[in-house]
Amino acid sequence: MTLIDGIEVDTALVEQLGLSLEDVVSIFDRQLQGEHPPINELCGRIEEYRGKMLRPTLVLLSGLVVEGGRLGNEHSVAAAVVEMIHMATLVHDDVLDEAEMRRRGRTINSLHGNEMAVMLGDYLISNAFHLCSTLEQPWVSLELGSVTNTLCEGELIQLFNRNNTCLDLATYMTIVEKKTASLIGASCRLGSLVSGASEEVAGCLERFGRKSGVAFQITD
Ligand code: FPP
Ligand code: MG
Repeated sequence: MTLIDGIEVDTALVEQLGLSLEDVVSIFDRQLQGEHPPINELCGRIEEYRGKMLRPTLVLLSGLVVEGGRLGNEHSVAAAVVEMIHMATLVHDDVLDEAEMRRRGRTINSLHGNEMAVMLGDYLISNAFHLCSTLEQPWVSLELGSVTNTLCEGELIQLFNRNNTCLDLATYMTIVEKKTASLIGASCRLGSLVSGASEEVAGCLERFGRKSGVAFQITD
């Protein structure tokens, strides 16, 4: 057993997750490595946006929790795609919020301006779907395309209500469910489906992810 924040976790699981997350990072970095050094340098800044890697971890854990589930390259690719979509939303979100800092450093918009940040976010989302299309399971793109629509809807509803000082609970929950919970739920769902989970199991994991996502966003 290994102690993480005072919680006992199976050592073999910790090691397996660690190795798979390293895989996810190399797939992510390789996808963004191009022939133009200034673009590579800009993409390198995304590393500073990287946090706990919650979403990729959920893809991997949901892939493992399914009966007989084993992690393969397709889990790591799906996890890297989800992380890249998440990074694209953060880059765009910082433009909308006019944020100067994110985690360990300055935001892309504060360093390079809004135009560069918008284009970098577009580049990340484009690369995410390019990477996703290398998977032999075309339904992953279909599901994630629906989730990116939902993320944008959440952000648009939030913008429509930017000056609404009487925001009602239902609208607030719609925003939170769309802009945050949807991608976390999808991470759990996709990880399990890649392992061959039934729709019932995938649905349960998706609900777990969505509810954790709502709790996370309310706390944030
Ligand atoms: C952080 O919210 C932002 C999100 C969870 C989602 C942002 C989504 C978009 C900007 C839509 C763009 C979509 C695509 C597909 C590129 P926050 O501002 O509450 O949290 P923070 O403290 O992390 O900034
Ligand atoms: Mg923000």
